Amino acid sequence: MSQTSKVYLVGTGPGDPDLLTVKALRLIQTADVVIYDRLVSDAILEQIPTGVSKIYVGKKTGNHTLPQEEINHLLLNLAESKRTVVRLKGGDPFIFGRGSEEALLLAQNNIKFEIVPGITAASACTTYAGIPLTHRGLAQGVQIVTGHSQADKPLELDWEVLADANKTVVIYMGFANRELISRKLIEAGLDKNTPAAAIQNGTTAQQTRVITTLGKLTEDTSMLQAPVIFVIGKVVTLAEQLDWFEIENAVESDFIDDEKSLHG
Ligand SMILES: C[S@@+](CC[C@H](N)C(=O)[O-])C[C@H]1O[C@@H](n2cnc3c(N)ncnc32)[C@H](O)[C@@H]1O
Repeated sequence: MSQTSKVYLVGTGPGDPDLLTVKALRLIQTADVVIYDRLVSDAILEQIPTGVSKIYVGKKTGNHTLPQEEINHLLLNLAESKRTVVRLKGGDPFIFGRGSEEALLLAQNNIKFEIVPGITAASACTTYAGIPLTHRGLAQGVQIVTGHSQADKPLELDWEVLADANKTVVIYMGFANRELISRKLIEAGLDKNTPAAAIQNGTTAQQTRVITTLGKLTEDTSMLQAPVIFVIGKVVTLAEQLDWFEIENAVESDFIDDEKSLHG
């Protein structure tokens, strides 16, 4: 391995290139090689100077372009031959991003590395959808969970803990399991009229926001496709008043009539 080589695990945020940190942008612009996956937006990839090698290792749920073991192998090989290897990750590398697994691999192989945090979807997508994660009188805290179960395994979450009307619940990777998730939360005690939102392609020009209720989440989001993040809790009631991004960008929003969705 070259003595001076280093691998940077870099969070890029959920899509809007203006949400890149200064450090992430500097690294993208000085890399020898950039490895990226599906959640890194085109607008961010456009920041990579021409001439820099770009390697796509994208994954879709259940359809891995490159298995994680091969990505690991690639990282080790590149670290041996290149000085500055930048591994881009959507959002934050340490939140449902397997960044820690890749960092452990580098540590175990005595490869120097740095980790650059990025704005995670729970923060950026909700903000761009006009939904605060906490708000005095509406939510005292936030619970962030994955809604994705490993192949052939049922989704096991602590539904009793999640069904807390005084906290906001944010669910990553839950689109395929949304019927199960809403049913389990209702069975665990959350009212079916609890406000709920789905945000697809958050922070990008393609952002779509659906405002509905827990009881209607499955039906009202059937037209969406990943990446989608779900937000459940009273803070969603502020979404209409705080709808700054979609108003400013004139992106059509799938805003479902409050009366119909919250009381129907
Ligand atoms: C493998 S996780 C990666 C999370 C990422 N490390 C982060 O911190 O945001 C992928 C999931 O993040 C959520 N997600 C990421 N970017 C998103 C976006 N722009 N809009 C909506 N959801 C997004 C979705 O739930 C998606 O299925």
